[in-house]
Amino acid sequence: MAEFIELEGISKTFPGLKANEDVNLKIKKAQVHALLGENGAGKSTLMKVLYGSYRADSGTIKVDGQAVTINSPADARAVGIGMVFQSFMLIPAFTVTENIALSLKELGLVIDKKEIEKGIREISDKYNFDVDPNAYVWQLSLGTQQKVEIIKLVMGGARLLIFDEPTSVLAPHEAEGLFKIFDGLRANGYSIIFISHKLNEVLACSDEITVLRRGKVVGTISRAEANEEVLVSMIIGAKMASSREYARKPLALDRKPILQLKDIVANNDRERIALDNMNLTIYAGEILGIAGVSGNGQKELGEVIQRLRLIKSGSIHFDGQEITQLSVSRVKQAGIACIPEDPLRQGAVGTMTVEENLALGDESSKDWLPMNWETARAKASYITDHFHLKMPRLNVPIQALSGGNVQRIVFAREMAANAKLLLAYYPTRGTDINAAEIIRTVLLNYRNAGGTILLVSEDLTELLSISDRLIVMYHGRNVGECQPENADINEIGHLMTDGKYAAHGQVA
Ligand SMILES: Nc1ncnc2c1ncn2[C@@H]1O[C@H](COP(=O)(O)OP(=O)(O)O)[C@@H](O)[C@H]1O
Ligand SMILES: [Mg+2]
Repeated sequence: MAEFIELEGISKTFPGLKANEDVNLKIKKAQVHALLGENGAGKSTLMKVLYGSYRADSGTIKVDGQAVTINSPADARAVGIGMVFQSFMLIPAFTVTENIALSLKELGLVIDKKEIEKGIREISDKYNFDVDPNAYVWQLSLGTQQKVEIIKLVMGGARLLIFDEPTSVLAPHEAEGLFKIFDGLRANGYSIIFISHKLNEVLACSDEITVLRRGKVVGTISRAEANEEVLVSMIIGAKMASSREYARKPLALDRKPILQLKDIVANNDRERIALDNMNLTIYAGEILGIAGVSGNGQKELGEVIQRLRLIKSGSIHFDGQEITQLSVSRVKQAGIACIPEDPLRQGAVGTMTVEENLALGDESSKDWLPMNWETARAKASYITDHFHLKMPRLNVPIQALSGGNVQRIVFAREMAANAKLLLAYYPTRGTDINAAEIIRTVLLNYRNAGGTILLVSEDLTELLSISDRLIVMYHGRNVGECQPENADINEIGHLMTDGKYAAHGQVA
């Protein structure tokens, strides 16, 4: 089969972070090529480079063997590359025909409305889309809007269609339908790049699979060579290099539970079940790691504990009292702090200085103003002294700092709160190797000083290296527990991907 698109040596750096590093990728004609990898692996960045939304620092893109320059989405469209975005680009108040007319006009194709309508009907019939050209977009389900996007790209002359996590907006049966559409497109010579972090989906629809990890290609394999086990070890990197470097806390017999979740049921933002009878116990003074492919309830777990999310049933006890019905601020006062998934967006105010951010959320300064500067400065030096975490200059706006430094500020503030439980969400995501190492050490120092941490991470190596205990979440449940020092990484991989132990044994 002929190569259609070739990416060679693509690198893309964001401040302090290599999002793509020397990436090679070949897409054949009439093929569904899956791009697989954990959140933050660099999939979207690579596709934005290919689609001209980002410019690569280095590397070449070839179309049909010819090097091309793609500096904008218009350049990409001109060589037949189209992208279906996670959030669709359609105008709700316009009809399907009007939306497509508009997009074709942007491509310089001015076509009579009747012709467009005819084209829409033809494509819709060919692929069984059942799209009415005269329907308003606001009337359409997300699944149908996706089909309109496909029609739009096909009519605009795209020959490669890039789908970035298209199933995240679909119900399971709609995902099946999308894969059938892929089959139809492939049969008509189109190429597809399908991005997902779900193994079952990738295995269901693709011809070839390329796995990215930390910005680099781990490998490309054919569907025939792929199975869950192979893919998991590629995604997470089967090495367990540093897992024995750190001293662990022996599990004491008289250990005291600090947090207990019993049969917690809660929905996600789309009103689907996210936590399905989740049970969990954290003991004082330990780091409890949560492993799992992202989207298996980890986010909702943290939100439920902080009381940011409605609990449908079940109970939460924390430090001797039931907190199931407490307010967000009461839970915070009770001693739960959180380093959020996206510190700059969720945990800090970008335009405020480091010092101001450190003063935020300070219970001792009752109202917003005046802020307690002395405490803020004291926090900075406390953190530096106790956890060996160096603070950046205090008088610069936080948005001027690198991601790693923003993380430090939010860390410092949350750790200085001396909470009884610290929720740490993906604390090293997006940081470089050195910063990640510092953060892990800080978390260990915190635990050694008596702190308790719930650590959510997609990096299994990291979880194994610093957790005292590890549980796996799958489909909103706690499906297994292990002690990292004698964990079997393949068993954990199994639990992560299908929620079951492999046939031959149990996790230690
Ligand atoms: N515009 C940006 N500025 C800074 N960092 C970014 C930007 N876009 C992505 N990143 C970072 O680059 C890394 C790769 O992100 P992304 O390509 O979105 O991964 P994926 O799509 O595989 O989840 C992540 O660490 C992310 O935080
Ligand atoms: Mg992405």
